[in-house]
Amino acid sequence: MSGRSRALIAASLLAADFTNLGEEVRAVESAGADWIHFDITDGHFVENLTMGPLVVEAIRPITKLALDVHLMIEDPARFIKPFARAGADSISVHVETTRHLIRVLEMIRAHNIKAGVVLSPAIGPEQLKWVLDYVSHILVLTVSPGFGGQRLLPHSYDRIRMVAAMVRDHGSDILIQADGGVNLTTIAPLADAGVDVFTLGSALFSSDDYGAMIPRFRKEAGR
Ligand code: DX5
Ligand code: ZN
Repeated sequence: MSGRSRALIAASLLAADFTNLGEEVRAVESAGADWIHFDITDGHFVENLTMGPLVVEAIRPITKLALDVHLMIEDPARFIKPFARAGADSISVHVETTRHLIRVLEMIRAHNIKAGVVLSPAIGPEQLKWVLDYVSHILVLTVSPGFGGQRLLPHSYDRIRMVAAMVRDHGSDILIQADGGVNLTTIAPLADAGVDVFTLGSALFSSDDYGAMIPRFRKEAGR
């Protein structure tokens, strides 16, 4: 058990019903989600095209939840301003998508938005060493990027433990977010490894009762 505080739930819209997005957001908010997670792709960094700032902007007025933007795009610096203007509360960028990671993190913070860094599954936690002062959360991607509904890669638990140890040594309150393949089976070992924010896509939106599911996830997480 990590001894960390209450589990935060980020509902990942990629798995929501896109014909009914506003209602989906309202439903997960009343079910007790903490963040709304947007997976943004560009067809280059990953072979998928999902959504852009317009979708974040459309959702902004209908929820009080934090809007958490996960950029899976090349050269993310180009899109910080549009997502900031759209109303994002946090923006996370992949280590491997920019040559100037600290500059991009500073750009995000300059908009009064929380900055996060993302570790793809084959990228080592040591890459984070020099950016810990610039981030409020670390998203450990627990599947290969770009698509929902995949199985969590089993080496993710070790990586999360390594990241948690780095954050502890750094003495900061950086949150650790798991994203990809989080379900009722994987959530307990993820919590145990030190995850604070659990991103839920298909395991939440495939249910027909979000209000029952979110408390079950919290119970399995043990916090
Ligand atoms: C993967 C995305 C995830 C994805 C999670 O690239 O970052 O946010 O939507 O979906 P599930 O929970 O279905 O694995
Ligand atoms: Zn994501």
